[in-house]
Amino acid sequence: MGVLAIQGSSRINGNSNVLLEAALSKASELGYTTELVHLSALSFRGCRSCFSCKLEQEPWNKNHACAIQDKLTPLLQKAAHADALLIASPIYFGSLTADVHAFLERLWFPANVYDMAHSSLWSQPIPTGFFITMNHTKPEDYINLLQNVRNFNSRIIGPTEFLIVADTCQFANYEQYHAPLFDAKHKQERHAELTTIECKRAAIFTEKLLCKGVNY
Ligand SMILES: Cc1cc2nc3c(=O)[nH]c(=O)nc-3n(C[C@H](O)[C@H](O)[C@H](O)COP(=O)(O)O)c2cc1C
Repeated sequence: MGVLAIQGSSRINGNSNVLLEAALSKASELGYTTELVHLSALSFRGCRSCFSCKLEQEPWNKNHACAIQDKLTPLLQKAAHADALLIASPIYFGSLTADVHAFLERLWFPANVYDMAHSSLWSQPIPTGFFITMNHTKPEDYINLLQNVRNFNSRIIGPTEFLIVADTCQFANYEQYHAPLFDAKHKQERHAELTTIECKRAAIFTEKLLCKGVNY
């Protein structure tokens, strides 16, 4: 049983990665094999709308796989064989990061069938846990974004859950940056909480996701 973790922040030691590491450590404890991939280390683009995955007859593409061959290709193949996906993304201007969005376009579109039932070519549903981090203190302000991601991912890939960590610490030292919006002391406290309270939440969330599997 394998868990594939996709890390969508360019900060490889940032909030999103810390949570994902905690999640993977719980997954290993539960007996899963794990792999973590940093999207920022890969050179790739989103869907180019070539429609190769939608052709009626395409002998070299029987699986309706994404025809683009780049650094994302092996990762998409791994995702297709994973038992669960864990995807971490900071919020950038009210959305997922561009890397995560590009990854999801390439993951979702080939499996998304243009039929009346909106069926999916994904071989069998697998659970996906999203780890969303943000500066903002009111995650409910991003409800539309999260609902949209949930709708597409649950229809195409399988049961979809979110762990949201708000009010994150962005700078190692707030005194060095012009950011009067934030209280440096409070953010340092939040930084300390990331590796304690929030990592514990990430572990509990992961255990629940993996134990429930597709039975949500
Ligand atoms: C380009 C950019 C845009 C951002 N936009 C938002 C935003 O719209 N809302 C928000 O709450 N935080 C925003 N943030 C803050 C990050 O989401 C937050 O610091 C996050 O925890 C960073 O994750 P990381 O440490 O894994 O990189 C933004 C950060 C960057 C760099």
